[in-house]
Amino acid sequence: MKYSQPFQWEPGKVIQLSTELEKPSPFYLGYDTHKSFVKTLEEYAFDRLFFFTEPHLLSLYGQELYEELNEKFPCQLEFVPNGEKCKSFGILEEVCENLIAKNASKKSILLAFGGGTVGNIVGLAAGLIYRGIRFVEIPTSMTGQTDSTLSNKQAVNGATGKNHFGLYHSPIFIWADTKYLQTEPPSSRRSGIIEGIKNGFISDATFLDYLEEALNPQVKFSDEALYQLVHKIILSKLEILKKDPSEKGYGIVLEYGHTFGHAIEWLEKGKLSHGESVSFGMKIAAELGKELGLLSQEDVDRHYYLIEDKLGFNNPFPEDLTTQKIMNAMIADNKKTGRELRFILLERIGQCYNPEGDFLVTVDQQVVRKVLDNFIARQRQKTSVNLSDRVA
Ligand SMILES: NC(=O)c1ccc[n+]([C@@H]2O[C@H](COP(=O)([O-])OP(=O)(O)OC[C@H]3O[C@@H](n4cnc5c(N)ncnc54)[C@H](O)[C@@H]3O)[C@@H](O)[C@H]2O)c1
Repeated sequence: MKYSQPFQWEPGKVIQLSTELEKPSPFYLGYDTHKSFVKTLEEYAFDRLFFFTEPHLLSLYGQELYEELNEKFPCQLEFVPNGEKCKSFGILEEVCENLIAKNASKKSILLAFGGGTVGNIVGLAAGLIYRGIRFVEIPTSMTGQTDSTLSNKQAVNGATGKNHFGLYHSPIFIWADTKYLQTEPPSSRRSGIIEGIKNGFISDATFLDYLEEALNPQVKFSDEALYQLVHKIILSKLEILKKDPSEKGYGIVLEYGHTFGHAIEWLEKGKLSHGESVSFGMKIAAELGKELGLLSQEDVDRHYYLIEDKLGFNNPFPEDLTTQKIMNAMIADNKKTGRELRFILLERIGQCYNPEGDFLVTVDQQVVRKVLDNFIARQRQKTSVNLSDRVA
């Protein structure tokens, strides 16, 4: 019911939410709101603003905003590499040393203008410099607006896995303007929405009913429909965060599909996005749930229906990925929780399995292997049927 009603939508209008975390940040949401952003920033005292973005985002939206900010405040423009490439120790060191060389002080503010990767590297740098300076996020991707900024987790990747090095650092505020999403590539938009679908699977089946109505496989939306979608995905995540503001307890359920997903993303080295990897990860996690007698075939089918038919994430499973490679990558990535393989599993749609007070469930490696073998075999079969259909 709470997701079926549309929110009031008015270009230029800004509403204020909160990240609901242990150290909460104001979260401003609207469409076409950059004038109000400048006014909000004026409320803070700072000596310099370091404006971080990617070159192509500056030409799309950042130039006008940067020039406006530069007229009012002492500003410095800084670039980071596009996408996941910027989440490395090398880039982190460059960013931090460069800020020191340019006399960033404890009174400076860093501004992250871009997707989740820009937010993560800038947030981590802000958390490290002088043991923590202020930063602001302007997320420009679906993932940024509905997922990564609703977390104080800032991280870079390590040699053996995603987000191995990081800390918790909260922005002074987040400014999400859904107008920026207009130019986001469809695959990146899908990557953000997939985390919204995940929120439904782990905590609220009624949210999936809304998404089933709202989504289309081309991920094309009017400005208003996109605003509604973003607003509702944000609320679906806030409902989960309210139960675990520290992000260290119940919030672990947000990792549904991520044990497989992170391994797939890591092995594909940039050829698959985070979201697409997680989309495979959730389908495999559903199959694992069924193998363990938790989920029905109908629940598993709902995963495929929402991810493939409604969201349009239906690319073939990467040819080079094998059960052995995925197992090795999951074991290597799992150092933080020990050598066992542990997964978030569903006991039904909208409810995570929590057998002994722990949502991370250890599963026998032989069972995981079997599920992966079957999943990969079915994916290969599907690809060859599609290919022969095309030839015929
Ligand atoms: N801290 C957390 O809890 C958390 C949660 C979710 C994701 N993340 C992290 O976020 C990252 C993924 O974020 P992402 O999907 O935004 O990736 P991203 O930052 O790589 O952006 C995706 C692509 O979209 C482009 N892009 C962004 N905004 C655009 C726009 N308005 N118009 C045109 N192109 C645009 C970017 O240049 C990039 O090529 C991952 O590194 C993931 O680990 C962190």
